Amino acid sequence: MSEIQIPLPGDHPQKDTNDSTVSVETGYAFWSESYDSFSNPMTYLVEKHLADLVSHGAHDISPVLELGCGTGRNLEHLMQMGASNGVGVDISEEMLAIARKRLEGTEITVQRHDLSNGLPLNDESFNTILISLVLEHIENIQPVIAEASRMLAPNGQLVIFEIHPYQRLNGRRAHYKDESGTDRFLPSYPHLIKDYVQAARQAGLILDRLEEYQGTPELVKEFPKLARYGDTPIVLGLRFRCSE
Ligand SMILES: C[S@@+](CC[C@H](N)C(=O)[O-])C[C@H]1O[C@@H](n2cnc3c(N)ncnc32)[C@H](O)[C@@H]1O
Repeated sequence: MSEIQIPLPGDHPQKDTNDSTVSVETGYAFWSESYDSFSNPMTYLVEKHLADLVSHGAHDISPVLELGCGTGRNLEHLMQMGASNGVGVDISEEMLAIARKRLEGTEITVQRHDLSNGLPLNDESFNTILISLVLEHIENIQPVIAEASRMLAPNGQLVIFEIHPYQRLNGRRAHYKDESGTDRFLPSYPHLIKDYVQAARQAGLILDRLEEYQGTPELVKEFPKLARYGDTPIVLGLRFRCSE
C-alpha cells in the first residue's frame, strides 16, 4: 500500500532529482489509487480555503478550467460553489480515470494533456482557471501561466495553490513508498513567490490576493498532522486577474 509522506526539513537530501525520482506519470499512476484517501496536509488546506480564494457568489464562475486536475476533487468543489460546466486537464491517465468517474453525468469533461505543451482550448474561454499543487512539478512555470492567461476571459480569475516556498526550500516534497518500501520522489522544482508574480505580470495578469495558509489551532484540532509545521506557512494561495 502506498503512503505519501511529507519529509521534515533535513529528513532527506534536498535534491531535485536523485536515483529514486520517478516521472510524474509513473508517480501519479501509483499514487492515484490512494490520492483521495491519504490524509495530506496540502490537499486538506486547499480544500479548506478553495471557496475563500476563488471569488464566487456574486457572478457565474463558469466555465471553469483546472490545469492538473488530478482526481477531480477540486472540480467537484467548484461545482458545489456554483460552477455548471468546464474542463479539467492532466497528464496522468490514472488520475483522470478517477476524475472521469467522479464527474460522470456533469457538464465538466476531462482531457489528457501535458501542460508543458500548449493546450487546444480557445482564447478567453474560461471565467475561472485553477492550478492546485501542480506547479511544483514544472520547472519553467512562465509558459503555463501564459497559457492560462490566454484562455482566461476578460474578467476572469486565475487561482493558484502551491506548496509554500518556505516548505519546499526546507526540503519538503511529496514522495511515496513503493511496493518494496523504497522512497520514490516526484520531480519537484522550488519556485519563489516572486516567480509566480513575475510570470503572471509578464502574461498580463495582476495580483488580486496573496495568502499564506498555516495550521491555526482550530485547523490543527481538525487535522492534527498540521501541528508538525508549527507556525510556518504551508500552502501559498494566489489569485490573479487580467490587467485592464
Ligand atoms: C498533487 S496533484 C494535484 C491534483 C489536483 N490539482 C489537486 O489539487 O488535488 C498534481 C497533479 O498534476 C499533474 N501534473 C503534473 N505535471 C503535469 C503536466 N506537465 N501536465 C499535466 N498535468 C501534470 C499530475 O498528474 C497530478 O494529477
